Amino acid sequence: MEIEKLREEIFEEFSLIKNLSELEAFRVKYLGKKGLLTSYLKELKNLPLEERKSLGRELNELKEKLEELLKQKEREILFQEEDRELEIDLTLTGKKRDLGNLHPLTQVIEELSQIFIRLGFEVVTGPEIESDYYNFTALNIPEWHPARDMQATFYLKNGALLRTHTSPMQIRAMLERTPPLRIIAPGKVYRCDADIRHSPMFHQIEGLMVDEEVSFSDLKGILTYFAQETFGEKTKVRFRPSYFPFTEPSLEMDIGCVICETKGCRVCGGSGWLEILGAGMVHPEVFKAVNYDISKWQGFAFGLGIERVAMIKYEIEDIRLFFENHFLFLNSFK
Ligand code: PHE
Repeated sequence: MEIEKLREEIFEEFSLIKNLSELEAFRVKYLGKKGLLTSYLKELKNLPLEERKSLGRELNELKEKLEELLKQKEREILFQEEDRELEIDLTLTGKKRDLGNLHPLTQVIEELSQIFIRLGFEVVTGPEIESDYYNFTALNIPEWHPARDMQATFYLKNGALLRTHTSPMQIRAMLERTPPLRIIAPGKVYRCDADIRHSPMFHQIEGLMVDEEVSFSDLKGILTYFAQETFGEKTKVRFRPSYFPFTEPSLEMDIGCVICETKGCRVCGGSGWLEILGAGMVHPEVFKAVNYDISKWQGFAFGLGIERVAMIKYEIEDIRLFFENHFLFLNSFK
């Protein structure tokens, strides 16, 4: 037997191995129990001593070498397979994941809150299910008062109600804190009313400032600042006398129409002005309800509709769009 030739043949065959099953077949063929090398080694005993010695050494060396190479090869193949699994094709188009965005009303609430935070106001929140007392009575709206009819109220069976405005937060804040205080209270309110300008659920921000010297001109200054921060520096404002049971004197603020700049157009109904909020100096009866000393404390309060601000800001005509959650509508506020 020519050991050289055998070795060459074996290595040649070894070099062609491509995968684990070929590797296994090779091992069986040469090193298995009935494998070629194994049987040669068994047959050595039939040879004369000299030959047996030298051939035996060579065959054993070959066997050991092969075992080592097989181990190496096996590792290589395993690594290659792993690599193939991890392979990334950089030429493939990726999957684009859309980021969501905050609801336009949430965005407006945050933007308006920031304006008042800059002025030293703190944000507080409270319950949407209210008692008659906080929503009306403590705000100087007794049971017989016609102002109760101005706000078509949803009553619950247990006598509680869905708050018709955020003004009960004035009472809650004053009871929880000691003056001086400056708070704003954003949140949902409910009135039995529905058309393209009214939704039975909508949002308000209440504002309240109480201190030893707070004047009507402080109120006007802060509201003007708010309007110009929200709708632009050049925004005109107009104050009209008004009536709320919980403020005296009371006012309503209009801003110059953002579309026609007070010339009069379809959006402002030809008047040139858009109504934006109600406000006034805190009524002494309200201070009495929370046991604040009316000879010491003064304050103002205001309440504005978020949807109204958002509709003017983004020129939206139908309030219902905010609550239908149509994909295209929401996506346009990114
Ligand atoms: N609560 C009033 C409303 O909803 C607005 C308001 C708040 C007016 C605070 C004056 C002071 O119409």
